[in-house]
Amino acid sequence: MFESKRMAKVLFFILIFIGGLQFLPAVNAKEGMWIPATLKKHENQMKALGLEIPIEELYNENGGGLNNAVVLFGRGCTGEIISSKGLILTNHHCGYGSVQGLTSLKNDYFATGFFAKGLNEEIPCPGLTVTFIRKMENVTQKILPGISDTLKDAIRDSIIAGRIKGLERDYEYKTGMDATIKSYYEGNQYWVAITETYTDIRLTAFPPNGIGTFGGDDENWIWPRHTGDFSVFRVYAGANNKPATYAANNKPYDATKFFKINTSGYKEGDFTMVYGFPGTTMEYISSFELNQVYSIIDPISIAARTKKLNVWSNHMNAKRDVFLKYTSKRATVANGWKKWQGEVLGLKVNNAIEKKQAFEKGFQDWAIKNIREPYVKNILPQLQAGAAGVNDLIFQDQHIREEVFGIELIQQGVSLDKMVACFRGKFSESELRDTLQKLAKGLDWFYKNYDMETDKDVFASLMPLYMRACKQNLPLYYKEQYRKHLNSCRRWSKSVYNKSLLASSDRLLEFAKKATQADSNVLKEDPALRLYNEVAAIRKEKISPKVDAYKTIKHYLNRLYISAQMSYEEQKDFYPDANLTLRLAYGNVKGLDPDGPAGYSFQTTLGDVVALDDTTSTQFKVPSKLKELYKTKDYGRWGVNGTMPVAFIAANHTSGGNSGSPVLNNKGELIGTNFDRAYEGTMSDYLFDPNRCRNISVDIRYTLFILDKFGGAGWLMDEMSFTK
Ligand code: ARG
Ligand code: ASP
Repeated sequence: MFESKRMAKVLFFILIFIGGLQFLPAVNAKEGMWIPATLKKHENQMKALGLEIPIEELYNENGGGLNNAVVLFGRGCTGEIISSKGLILTNHHCGYGSVQGLTSLKNDYFATGFFAKGLNEEIPCPGLTVTFIRKMENVTQKILPGISDTLKDAIRDSIIAGRIKGLERDYEYKTGMDATIKSYYEGNQYWVAITETYTDIRLTAFPPNGIGTFGGDDENWIWPRHTGDFSVFRVYAGANNKPATYAANNKPYDATKFFKINTSGYKEGDFTMVYGFPGTTMEYISSFELNQVYSIIDPISIAARTKKLNVWSNHMNAKRDVFLKYTSKRATVANGWKKWQGEVLGLKVNNAIEKKQAFEKGFQDWAIKNIREPYVKNILPQLQAGAAGVNDLIFQDQHIREEVFGIELIQQGVSLDKMVACFRGKFSESELRDTLQKLAKGLDWFYKNYDMETDKDVFASLMPLYMRACKQNLPLYYKEQYRKHLNSCRRWSKSVYNKSLLASSDRLLEFAKKATQADSNVLKEDPALRLYNEVAAIRKEKISPKVDAYKTIKHYLNRLYISAQMSYEEQKDFYPDANLTLRLAYGNVKGLDPDGPAGYSFQTTLGDVVALDDTTSTQFKVPSKLKELYKTKDYGRWGVNGTMPVAFIAANHTSGGNSGSPVLNNKGELIGTNFDRAYEGTMSDYLFDPNRCRNISVDIRYTLFILDKFGGAGWLMDEMSFTK
């Protein structure tokens, strides 16, 4: 009797303990990018992890939250407001394109940096915009009522599109601001964002590349990192502090909300938040779709780009003018190339496909028992069959995208089509030549950054990949040409670049100047146009219709799938996949030790930067003034016991678009600016592993030190607000 009573008591406590566990912070506490307006339900957990301010300070229904200090910078980055006078901090790589537009041989800001000495020296950046998110509201109940879950997407989409337009107009009328409604959870929810977009944005400070891109592509996606990847701009406003087109007498934006800066640093384990605009994640897709990324799309892209980057590098190293033409293109191509390698590795180490399969098995068992919604059990089989039906086409398409269209001449082939069209117009001979010349000149932007010899080599190394991988499905023209050139892509490439008008701007202009009505065949037979058209035709006839149909049905099924996953895992808190809307992620400062005892610390310092100095390298050359400051330890008020922190990592869930995001401490104060992720964890767009996923940030003290001591822009500190 006693015994069994004791047993019951023990059992009772075990049950309480297990029940209690559910209220402790979940293991995946650091995964997720949350809609700020839904953070309230995380408050307890965030406070348990260290948050010391009420959620309302981060986001507030009634206005006045820190969301007013986070901006969409340009079209794909984040920035933060750091003074009452509209000063914006973002990444160097986010400001790069705008600064390129302000740069000339005389004012080479990439080499010298730029640091305005006062408001009057700030430089307008035409085309650059900054968008504030004033408020977000869940409008699902205004968009979805009366629409059945299983209504096919074409009909559903058109009803929804109509409702969205009407509702956006209502909000714009009511608020006097812009309103954009976007879909979340694949169309299971809709949120409106009330926004204001400013267009008079000026450059305030931009460190030279020796700081802002230090480490270059070698250290891209890598921790430990040594880059001062930041730049500073300012928002200007017109009357009533509202958006206005550029005018010399616009005033700095009067910011009621801006981030206070905390210069006392952080230690391992400290609570952190990243507030910004992650672009795309796909956390809830099926194993069948993930497998397309993992075993088709990524590997093809990586292999093709490895070849292309090798060829480009050889030519760039041999000739300075080729280097200057290709440096920016190379950075873009290499950025994806390296990210995907990390992604494949991370998915593999995590057995991501197997994990999804195991999940799907559980889901399927549940779905079969779930008689309320009988269609649920058909979701996965349909996704599986859909993927199986197009995997081969996706394979071919990826080879075409990376290998055929990876050859610049072929990709540009389409421009010749426009010229061909001129011959069909009723032009006189002189009008014809005029129009052709105009079109040829319109390609100046292309030739400015094009080198024929380099591209010819790219043809010779990429084309064999395509010819081999897709040999069952090649366009006839490709087969003939290949045979005609004795199965040698190098011979073939020689003749293509010898013959094609597109291979050089002079050749094309020469043709345009002299063309007569009889010359249309010269264009139609141009190898660049043929190569483009023939492969485009294969895509149009044999690939795209099926792939597009698959995408439509997949979108439909994924919407049902997420919604069903939410019923299946009722206890789990689902965050919506990234869609370039404002999100907050929280986690903590944490070193990275994925595979062994070595581990990396969570922070790098200026000493580490100087240790990498290599005066013969463009990527690792430390500016002499920075070395001087290091030698004399002249860190002003920004150093810490004789050292200068540079970058740090934390386990926050971020993605592309989070570049430039404010990294905040437990009081919502700024401690850094996010700019990248660690290689080990770039698969976080599909699967977040807290042991491997780290976001990389510039330490705010490094930013301030560079502005103050390196750039002599100490005047900016007077408008900031500091805390310790
Ligand atoms: N990896 C960073 C992000 O995806 C880009 C960093 C830019 N630097 C570079 N070397 N490409 O945007
Ligand atoms: N570097 C990325 C960006 O520019 C950030 C990331 O992918 O982690 O948004």
